Amino acid sequence: MNVTKVRKHFAFYKHNKNLYYLDSAASALKLDIAIDKMTDYYHKSGVNIHRGNYELAFFTTEEYEKAREVVAKFINADAKEIIFTKGATQALNLVANSASVFAGSNDEVITTEQEHNSSILPWLHQADTLGYKPVYIPLNNEYRVTVENFKKVLNKNTKVVVINHVSNVLGYINPIKEITKLAHEVGAVVILDAAQSVPYMKIDVKDLDIDFLAFSGHKIFGPTGIGVLYGKKEQLLKLNVYEVGGEMVAKATKDQIIFQDIPYRFEAGTPPIGEAIGLAEAIKYVDKLGFDKTTKHIEKLRQMAVKGLQEIKGITVYNPNGDAGIVSFNLNGVHPHDASSVYDELGVCLRSGHHCASILTETLDAPGGTLRASISIYNDEKDIEKLLEATKKASEFFGRY
Ligand SMILES: Cc1ncc(COP(=O)(O)O)c(C=O)c1O
Repeated sequence: MNVTKVRKHFAFYKHNKNLYYLDSAASALKLDIAIDKMTDYYHKSGVNIHRGNYELAFFTTEEYEKAREVVAKFINADAKEIIFTKGATQALNLVANSASVFAGSNDEVITTEQEHNSSILPWLHQADTLGYKPVYIPLNNEYRVTVENFKKVLNKNTKVVVINHVSNVLGYINPIKEITKLAHEVGAVVILDAAQSVPYMKIDVKDLDIDFLAFSGHKIFGPTGIGVLYGKKEQLLKLNVYEVGGEMVAKATKDQIIFQDIPYRFEAGTPPIGEAIGLAEAIKYVDKLGFDKTTKHIEKLRQMAVKGLQEIKGITVYNPNGDAGIVSFNLNGVHPHDASSVYDELGVCLRSGHHCASILTETLDAPGGTLRASISIYNDEKDIEKLLEATKKASEFFGRY
C-alpha cells in the first residue's frame, strides 16, 4: 500500500510533521475530502433539510439522503434501516432505551468483559430496574470470546446479546456470525458494537444477520458528531422513539402523535447534515482504497510492533496475537499514564489508561489500564520504529531495561 499517497489525503500530516499518530482507535485522522465536502455544505448551502419548499432545500435534502444510501450500501443494508445519530454511543443508547421491549425479569442479557462502556453500561444501568441479569461470556486464556464459551452461557432465558465486533483494547475480531446464528435459535436479538470493526474490515449486515449495529463517523476518517445505527426493519419498528420533536412526526394534534416511518422517527430535530454528507465521502474513500489492501498493511505493522515490543525487557504485551491493528501493553510496574509522558516527548501519540473499557482492564489485572498503540491506513514503519524507540527510552527511564 502506498502510504505516502494516502498521507496526501490527510492535512494532519502537513501540520504535524513531527508526530507519529498511533491513536486511531480513539479517533482516526480526518480525510480532507470529508472535511471539504462538509465545508462545501456550510459554504454553499447551510440550509435545513426535509422542510423547505425551495430548490436549495430540495438539493440539500437529496445530498443528505444520498449519504444515507452510501452508508447503507457500504454495510449491505437498506437505506430505511440507517439512522444517523451523533455517534456509536448514542446509537447504542437508542437501542438500550427500549431495553424493556426485549428483556425483563428472569431474562438474561449476554455480554462480554471486553466491552467499551458505551455498549455495556446502557444495559447494566437498567438491569436492576428491569430485572434482567447480565451474563458474561467467559474469556479464554488469551482474553478472547469463543463460540464454545458462548454456548456455555446461552440458554432459553437469553433475550439479548450485546457484544463488540472488534475489541478496542485487544483488537480481537469476535465470531459474530456464529454467535448470531446461535442467539437467533433461542430467539435473542444481537446488538453489535462495530465502532472498531467498520473502519477495519468489510461488514455485511445481511451475512452477519445481526439485528442492530452501531458505529461512529470519526473512527472511519469522517467528522465527529455523526454516527450510525443500523437495525433490521422489523427490529427498528419495535423500538420506542428516543427523542420527540421536529420532523419525526407525520402528524401531531393536541391529543395525538403519529410518528413518521423509519428511519425518520428516530431523527428528531435538525440532524448533523454536513457531518452526514462528510461521512459519506469518507466511506467512499475507504471503500475505494479496499480493505484487502489496508488490512494486510495494518497487520504487517502490528506484527512489527508486537515483535519489537517483545524484544524489550520488562514489557507485557496483552494481545500478541491480536487481529486488528491494536496493541495493548505495559511497562511492568509502571503506571501507563507515567509511561505515556515519554512517548509524548518523542511525538508518539498513543493512548494510556482504561480506554473506556473499565471491566476489561480489571480482567487483564492492569489496574491503571494499558498503553495502547492503534495502527491505521496512514501509518508506516517509521511510526512503529518511533513507538519502539520511545518504549526503550521509557523502559530505561523507569529502570526496567
Ligand atoms: C468499541 C467501541 N465502542 C463504542 C465506542 C464509542 O464511540 P463514540 O465515543 O464515538 O460514541 C468506542 C469509542 O472508543 C469504541 O471503541
